[in-house]
Amino acid sequence: MAKLKVGLIGGGGPGNFFGHVHKRAIAFDNSRELVAGALRSDPEQALAAAGEYEVEGFSDYESMLEAATNGKLDLDYVTIVTPNHAHYAPAKAFLEAGIPVLCEKPITMTVEEANHLQSIVDTKGVPFVLAHTYTGHPMMMLAKEMVRQGKIGEVRKVEAWYNQGWLATPLEKEGLQQAEWRTDPTRTGISNCGGDIGTHAFIAATWVSGHAVARVSARLNSFVDGRELDDDFNVIGELDNGGTALITATQIAIGYKNDNGFRIYGSRGSLEWHQERAENLLVRTGEVDETYWIGANYSFFPETVGSYLRVPSGHHEDFFAALANLHCTMERMIRRSRGEEAPEPFDHPGVAEGVAGMRFVAAAVSSSAAKGAWTDL
Ligand SMILES: NC(=O)c1ccc[n+]([C@@H]2O[C@H](COP(=O)([O-])OP(=O)(O)OC[C@H]3O[C@@H](n4cnc5c(N)ncnc54)[C@H](O)[C@@H]3O)[C@@H](O)[C@H]2O)c1
Repeated sequence: MAKLKVGLIGGGGPGNFFGHVHKRAIAFDNSRELVAGALRSDPEQALAAAGEYEVEGFSDYESMLEAATNGKLDLDYVTIVTPNHAHYAPAKAFLEAGIPVLCEKPITMTVEEANHLQSIVDTKGVPFVLAHTYTGHPMMMLAKEMVRQGKIGEVRKVEAWYNQGWLATPLEKEGLQQAEWRTDPTRTGISNCGGDIGTHAFIAATWVSGHAVARVSARLNSFVDGRELDDDFNVIGELDNGGTALITATQIAIGYKNDNGFRIYGSRGSLEWHQERAENLLVRTGEVDETYWIGANYSFFPETVGSYLRVPSGHHEDFFAALANLHCTMERMIRRSRGEEAPEPFDHPGVAEGVAGMRFVAAAVSSSAAKGAWTDL
C-alpha cells in the first residue's frame, strides 16, 4: 500500500519543539512520509528550514496549497504545528480544498474560528484530528472504552489535572520562544495556561468520561509579575449528567514536568491514570485494586485499542507512539474513505472536541473575571 504523503505547517528553525515530535510520529509506522513543509513564518527562513527536514520547501502554506491543488504536489493530509494564532487560516484553507488536517491544540484562538472549522468539517466530511497527544496513549484509550462499556457504572465525578513548573519565572523575558508566544495574547488567545494545558485536562475529563461540561465556576491566577494572562487555571464544572468535574492546570508548580492525569469515579468503580506513568491504568472496584499494564499480547485490550499497540508486554510505548497513534487514526480515516483496507479508527478528538475546548476556556475566563460566577458553556 502506498505511503500517505504529509505536509507540515510550522515546525522549522533551531528553537522549535513539537514539529520534530510530529516528524517522528509521522514516520513511526513506515506507512506515512513527510514530503513537504511550510515550516516558518518568514518566507526565506521557511525555505531554508526545508533542508533540516529533507522535504520540498514552500515559503508559506498558501503556496503549498496551490501546488497541492494544481497537481504539482501529492498530499494526503497536512499537520499544523504553529503557535495558536496560526492554526485557523491554514486549517480552513486546506479543509475547504478537501485536504484532511491533523491540527495542534488548542484548535484555534477563538470560539468563532473553531465553530467555523467545525461547519467546514461537517459540510465537507473531510477527516480532522485534534492533536491531544495523550489521547493516543493506549491506556487512556482503554479507560475510555472501559467507561463506555460500563465497567465503573454511571460517572459521578471526574478530576483531571495538568501540573507544570516551567513558567514559575518570567522565562518569556529571557527570550525562550515557547514561553514568548504562549504568554502573548496576540499569539496564544485569551488564556495561556488554560488554552495550552487546561485543554488537555478538559479532554481527559470529557473524552474519557463521555460527558460534556455544561457550566463552570473558575478562578484563574497570574502569579508571575508582568504576565498578562493566567499561569494557573482552576475550574469546577457541572457535567451534563449532573456529575462534578474538577479541572485544573498550572505552570507555576515548581519541579512538576508533565504531571497530567485523571481520576474518574463511577457508581461501581474508579479509574486512575498518570501520564508520567503512562503504561499503567488503575481500576478500583472496592475490593482488590487492579493494575492494567500496557502490552500488545494482553487479551484485555479490545480490538479498537489493541490494533494500535506495537510492542510486546513488558516493554514501554511512549510519547512518540501516542502521537503516532493520532497520525494512525488520520491514516485510517483517509484510507477507509478511499475504500482501501484499514482497521477501524479509534474515536480520537476531532473538531467537535476542539470547539468544546474553546467554549470551556472562554467560559472559564468569563467566570473568573466575574469572581467565579457560574457560567454556561
Ligand atoms: N499535543 C501536544 O502534546 C503539544 C505539545 C507541545 C506543543 N503543542 C502545540 O504545538 C504548537 C507549536 O508549539 P511548540 O511548542 O512546538 O512551539 P514552537 O515555538 O517550538 O514552534 C512553533 C513553530 O511554528 C513556526 N511558525 C510560527 N508561525 C508560523 C507561520 N505563520 N507559518 C509557518 N510556521 C510558523 C515557528 O517557526 C516554529 O517552527 C502549539 O499549538 C502548541 O500548543 C502541542
